[in-house]
Amino acid sequence: MVKNDINVIIEKEDLAEKIVKLVIYNPQIALNAKAGQFVIIRVDPKGERIPLTIADSDKKAGSITLISMTIGKTTTLVEKMREGESITDVLGPLGKCSEIERFGHVVCIGGGLGIAPVFPILKEIKNAGNTVTTIIGARNEKLLILEEEMKACSDNFFICTDDGSKGFKGFVSMKLKELITASLNGTGNFPRPDRVIAIGPTLMMKSVCDVTRQYDIKTIVSLNSIMIDGTGMCGTCRVEVGTETKFACVDGPEFDGHLVNFNLLLARQNYFCEEEQLSMEEYKKENHTGACKLDL
Ligand SMILES: Cc1cc2nc3c(=O)[nH]c(=O)nc-3n(C[C@H](O)[C@H](O)[C@H](O)COP(=O)(O)OP(=O)(O)OC[C@H]3O[C@@H](n4cnc5c(N)ncnc54)[C@H](O)[C@@H]3O)c2cc1C
Ligand code: FES
Repeated sequence: MVKNDINVIIEKEDLAEKIVKLVIYNPQIALNAKAGQFVIIRVDPKGERIPLTIADSDKKAGSITLISMTIGKTTTLVEKMREGESITDVLGPLGKCSEIERFGHVVCIGGGLGIAPVFPILKEIKNAGNTVTTIIGARNEKLLILEEEMKACSDNFFICTDDGSKGFKGFVSMKLKELITASLNGTGNFPRPDRVIAIGPTLMMKSVCDVTRQYDIKTIVSLNSIMIDGTGMCGTCRVEVGTETKFACVDGPEFDGHLVNFNLLLARQNYFCEEEQLSMEEYKKENHTGACKLDL
């Protein structure tokens, strides 16, 4: 039986290759968490701070759920943590919560690890009385997560894989375009979307926005810029939205995707690439592990 100390991992589950789910005891965060918000964690006292979305929360149990994909040193450390161990710091809930209203027909898109952050939003959007179409995508079948959970909250549900190992062979943006075209041609039983919410790798969110811009469908994206303090003080998460400079940690992470300067975001995300590689190399040397860096 795991003791309920603050930030203790009360449950850990492997969801897919290099994707772990952690249920963490933190009643204060669980009480205040809303869809779209995130925490910044530090796995040990000397560790770096990384943001992870609150994928679920349970006020009664006092717990929050985080889903982490292993891509570098800190997420490797997260993957290695065990039930009963404590995370040194969990700061949150941070960021603005998602805009939840009755919009009509909402298409929720999760790509790769974006499937986890889109899940709490999808649940709230459905509870608000919207018709929900969900599209989830990953490189291959083995990387798909939360399939049954997402399907249960959706009126229409589509899976896409890059290699065609499950569902539609191709990107989520391609499936979206196919569905919108069908709705405009009156073929199929798919109403024109009133809003699209897309979360995933930056290039995926950019491609979705390129599609929806053509049809003037409002599209919300959640920006995964590099974050350090999460309080609007350090400026690391600076993004350009329309003519304005915004801080993703306090002004976002959700923004109108048609206004986001994705090229600048991509450039800033690669800013510390060398240091990240170095940190992983040193970790591998110290721990004699063959762990490798994966693409998000
Ligand atoms: C608001 C927000 C919510 C996120 N939610 C999730 C989530 O629920 N699950 C998940 O697995 N990942 C999530 N991420 C991404 C996650 O923070 C990075 O994968 C993680 O920081 C990588 O750290 P690393 O040391 O393992 O990898 P590194 O090798 O250090 O970095 C790999 C890549 O991760 C990104 N990254 C690195 N450090 C940071 C940082 N401090 N802040 C943001 N991005 C960083 C960069 O693009 C970098 O190139 C989220 C990011 C943001 C901004
Ligand atoms: S993370 Fe420092 S300002 Fe946003």
